[in-house]
Amino acid sequence: MNTADSEEMMLALAARGCFICEDLNKADIVLINTCTIREHAEHKALSLLGRLRKWKEEKAGRIIIFAGCAAQRLGAGVRGKFPHVDIVCGAKSIDDFDKILDKSGLFGSDKSAGKSAALNSPIALVNIMRGCSCKCSYCIVPYVRGEAFSLDFDAVLKEIETKLSLGTKEIVLLGQTVNAYNYKGKTFADLLRAALKLEGLDRLRYLSPHPLFITEEVSEIMASEPKMSKHLHLPVQSGSDKVLKDMKRGYSSGEFLEKIALLRRGGINVTTDIIVGYPTETEEDFKQTLSLVDECKFGGAYCFKFSPRFGTPAFSLKELPKEEVEKRLDILLNKIKENAKAAYKAQEGRAERVLMEDPHNGRTLSNFWVKTEASYKAGEVVTLTIKKAQESILLA
Ligand code: 5AD
Ligand code: SF4
Repeated sequence: MNTADSEEMMLALAARGCFICEDLNKADIVLINTCTIREHAEHKALSLLGRLRKWKEEKAGRIIIFAGCAAQRLGAGVRGKFPHVDIVCGAKSIDDFDKILDKSGLFGSDKSAGKSAALNSPIALVNIMRGCSCKCSYCIVPYVRGEAFSLDFDAVLKEIETKLSLGTKEIVLLGQTVNAYNYKGKTFADLLRAALKLEGLDRLRYLSPHPLFITEEVSEIMASEPKMSKHLHLPVQSGSDKVLKDMKRGYSSGEFLEKIALLRRGGINVTTDIIVGYPTETEEDFKQTLSLVDECKFGGAYCFKFSPRFGTPAFSLKELPKEEVEKRLDILLNKIKENAKAAYKAQEGRAERVLMEDPHNGRTLSNFWVKTEASYKAGEVVTLTIKKAQESILLA
């Protein structure tokens, strides 16, 4: 989602003649698009901002833009603490970024450079929902991004059409609870079906879904439509019913397993997110997470240590000892690695359609990374035979 927001901001800057510059010393503008989901992410952004004070002083006219979720959370306070910031644009204001640039007076009125300098990737991200209304007890997203709302059905399809006409091969539909999409009665399944009919589409993916809204109808579309990605990133967070309840996730581990069974029938590669060390997680609860992981055989997982976020219900709970959380994370990561290894190994010998993202690297329809010595154009879809699975990449 942050990548999609960065692209949107890039388009507004590109219209004013800006282009991406790899060398900080040659750059005139730095845009930091921030995350605040865990404390660590916010610290990293703020410490970069601090270091840029010197960069800004080195040359007159340099501009610093601080955007995204941490900007939303910290608001005007950013300017107070970091007076060298020129523009602050919170996550809720990304849609107004163009106006914010105009209002800043730092850019001329010429926007004729158009979008030519912008992004050039075979994959396009398309927002279909904004915000989140789930209010999981640990999560700051609903507070920095606001309540969930679905974007206009026809406008979404139009945007997909435009991106496909520019040569995009893969469309990724985005939302915090993307599969809860509902615009005036048009459901997520309706949107998938309509998008799949569009000319030029090679692949359709979506993220991030919430287990509560996984339906038989959507699983069926995923299984039967050859252009639907055969991968789903489905965050589970914990395998303990008590912790899931405390987290206010709205499902039990049994219900999650039912959804997994539904997806597995369609041959979907499922990956997940897990939080370790939620304040009410006992040794026994953690063991239940391990057994759920064993049962689900995830193709991969992002595992996070619980991070207390100010303003969320879980913030006031007493944290578990750091060493205990580290220990649990280690055990979990090892288990995830074993399972992922098996998932990669199972790909050996298969002939897969790979969408190339650069000359030597691409992804299969099940979202496994493939590396090849042969050379292709980015955006090309080629059939490659998987010779060998390495830890997190397939060799072809
Ligand atoms: N602490 C740790 N992990 C968190 N996540 C969200 N909030 C927190 C938090 N306070 C994780 C969840 C989510 C992913 C994007 O980040 O696992 O799925
Ligand atoms: Fe946060 Fe996801 Fe829960 Fe929404 S559904 S509150 S984004 S963890």
